[in-house]
Amino acid sequence: MSDSLYFAHVTDIHISERESQGDPSASLAACLMRECITHLNALPDLDFVLITGDVMDVAGVAERDAFLEILDTLRKPWHFVPGNHDGFIDPFHPNALKPHEAVARIDPRLADPVPAAQKACWSRSVSPGVQLIALDTRIADDWAGEVEPAQLDWLREQIEAHQDAVIIIATHHPLHQLGPHNNRGRLHKFICSNGAEVEAVLDQYPNVKLVISGHHHTNHLSLVNNDNGQRLRVVTSALGDYSCSHRAIRLEKREAGWRVCIQTHQTDDVDMLQTMRRRAATTGIAREFDPNNLAAWATFCEGRPHDLNYDGYLR
Ligand SMILES: [Fe+2]
Ligand SMILES: [Fe+2]
Repeated sequence: MSDSLYFAHVTDIHISERESQGDPSASLAACLMRECITHLNALPDLDFVLITGDVMDVAGVAERDAFLEILDTLRKPWHFVPGNHDGFIDPFHPNALKPHEAVARIDPRLADPVPAAQKACWSRSVSPGVQLIALDTRIADDWAGEVEPAQLDWLREQIEAHQDAVIIIATHHPLHQLGPHNNRGRLHKFICSNGAEVEAVLDQYPNVKLVISGHHHTNHLSLVNNDNGQRLRVVTSALGDYSCSHRAIRLEKREAGWRVCIQTHQTDDVDMLQTMRRRAATTGIAREFDPNNLAAWATFCEGRPHDLNYDGYLR
């Protein structure tokens, strides 16, 4: 690979038209996305931006068009992995854009085949010797995640075809549990139902170094150690929900191994942050996470100190 790869991870922007339905904080996501893009445009050596889905909220036309209008101000290459909010087919969202109406318009590279759930996976060289492989973990009519057998076969083929490259995997749903809460109630839908099966494939290949995900709205880092080497799982909190963060990730080849440096950037707008934190405590998810402490969900979303910044070597 080239000496260094430097990219940003932005996820779960949730551009929302719910303001017109009485949620005054709904418009904040657009503000946060503009602020984030201003920051990213000012990074001269940033190679690309990875957006791992849920760019919209209820998948209305206004949301899609607002997202595209703001995205148009980004002066860096970008890559997009669809999330479960990027189009709906379920009866609870009768007025929403269908995934093929939303995803294909957001990223025409994903228009063929029709980007139904499980179909919008892709594999691209993002730098000499670096392959970015995106899995489509959406399922058709639910917010849970999965990787179907055919996509798992495709993943194996892609990794086999790029044994000489460093591989970065991108998914909307994390493949691993972030905590015991992922076994409770609806909270299991925050992770891929067969993530362990996918990770068992990744375990076989020491050149898979990073797995980058969103959907959980949480900053979380965890290291996988196995006989073949190490890889880092990176889950980033929502940009358009608390804790309003994005990441900058640098990957370098050194004699001691692969050096990975991660910095987490939170919005500078303190008022906006407090509004989002208060809103997070009012959600059903916060009640399920800890019914006795509704603020605990927001605290979990922030991440522990060691989930925010990382500087280490992967053997
Ligand atoms: Fe989300
Ligand atoms: Fe999601």
